Amino acid sequence: MIIKFLTDTPAKNEAVVYFVDNSKSIKGDLINLDKDGQITRAINSSSAFSWKEGQILHILAPTYLDTAHIFIVSIAECNSAVGIERIGAKIADSLNQYKIASASVFLDSIDLTPDLYASFFFGIKLKNYVFSKYYVSKKDDYLKSLQSISGISKKAEEVSLKFDSLDAIAEGVLTARDLVSEPANVLFPKSFADKCTDLRSLGVNVKILDESEMIKLGMGALIGVAQGSANKPYTVIMDWNPEVNNKKTIAMAGKGVCFDTGGLNIKSAASNIADMKDDMGGAAAVFGAMYAIAKQKLNVRVVGIIGLVENSVSATAQRPSDIVITMSGQTVEVENTDAEGRLVLSDIMWYVQEHYNPDYLFDIATLTGAVTVALGEGGYAGLFSNDDELASDVLRLGIQTGEEFWRLPLSETYDKQIDSEIADMRNTGTVRGGGATIAAQFLQRFVQSGNKWAHLDIANVAWNKRGTVIAPKGATGFGVRILEAFAKECVST
Ligand code: BES
Ligand code: MN
Ligand code: ZN
Repeated sequence: MIIKFLTDTPAKNEAVVYFVDNSKSIKGDLINLDKDGQITRAINSSSAFSWKEGQILHILAPTYLDTAHIFIVSIAECNSAVGIERIGAKIADSLNQYKIASASVFLDSIDLTPDLYASFFFGIKLKNYVFSKYYVSKKDDYLKSLQSISGISKKAEEVSLKFDSLDAIAEGVLTARDLVSEPANVLFPKSFADKCTDLRSLGVNVKILDESEMIKLGMGALIGVAQGSANKPYTVIMDWNPEVNNKKTIAMAGKGVCFDTGGLNIKSAASNIADMKDDMGGAAAVFGAMYAIAKQKLNVRVVGIIGLVENSVSATAQRPSDIVITMSGQTVEVENTDAEGRLVLSDIMWYVQEHYNPDYLFDIATLTGAVTVALGEGGYAGLFSNDDELASDVLRLGIQTGEEFWRLPLSETYDKQIDSEIADMRNTGTVRGGGATIAAQFLQRFVQSGNKWAHLDIANVAWNKRGTVIAPKGATGFGVRILEAFAKECVST
């Protein structure tokens, strides 16, 4: 999609978009357009338009204008980036509904900051997405009509500059969606690892560990998950290490289970096995965030690490009750082969702490069905942290970016529930309920002492069957923005 910012109006527009505020009257450019009062009359006689925030009115343009469609968008009193972005997402839907291919948005129709103008287009870009790679004989109806949009403003240059960094984030989110949307016969550990080398052109140091290197490192938990699959596992380390550095290091570990059959504890159709291509949503978010961070050349050290495996069923698959030795040296009784994400994360979290000594450790994963039971589709993902300040930062940035979290508990009482009779720990609890916390307690046993850690369980938000305010149905790319926002904040503090 082409997004441009211009100071001048193109000679002819297929569609034009104007903003109104809550003054309940049209202003500036729109007054000039409304020569004979037809536009005002259309606004006032519409029962669907009452000047409320986010409302959009479509008007067939008077014949004397060089455009066929006018869209009036109410900004009302909205002045938050995430609010304006959501209104942008709505106009993307409206333009597509009318099969518009190109439009001009007259930004100066109300006075907002260049940042907020830019946010409007960020919302358009995020919503105007479709994973169309496999549409071959499908009709164009399934595609988005909107191909290009221009923002017209005296401040075009400033808006364009502000949009550049939002565009980097949007590209990160859309790439994460692409990765999550790919089926597991296309996106498997090797092809995902290869994709990561794209980041080299942005100056990211990309290192790939293969199976034999991981065996040497003692990553017994990750290897155990992968051993049943014909697709070999990989760990990818993406290191953004800018020259001028404020010495803060953020590590981001992503669960990259390219397909989760459950292993020998096989998932049933009823437990939505077919959805399990999205079990690499955490790894996709890390990749997307690394892209956005490097593209903007953020002055902070960020190390992304993703554990790429397929949890499969075969004669070589690990058995429930197998005991594995993790890279940390701690042993795990694999009580359930379907609790595989925590096994993968335990080794990559350990590796990144050993090799990079981060100030902050994030992990992000489609980890538990239990987080869906707890938080459902309310838009909140699960947050667990051993540090109150870090947790409140994530909650605050979540509100700012629209990737919201709800903090869930960790405690010694829960921790005891993963003690094993025969090894240091089991990979599942011994008490019913609280599954999202149980998984988090498991991960916490792999957080080195003194390290600040936040665990993001995105199992309930990585995919949305109905679509969200800023994402069409399917992969959401959730996680890219919170990770990018945290990194960006480390630059300025
Ligand atoms: N990948 C799943 C979690 C999941 C479920 C993600 C639904 C997205 C949608 C994870 O590996 C898993 O299978 N977890 C089990 C853990 C259980 C065996 C303790 C679960 O949640 O059922
Ligand atoms: Mn599983
Ligand atoms: Zn899984």
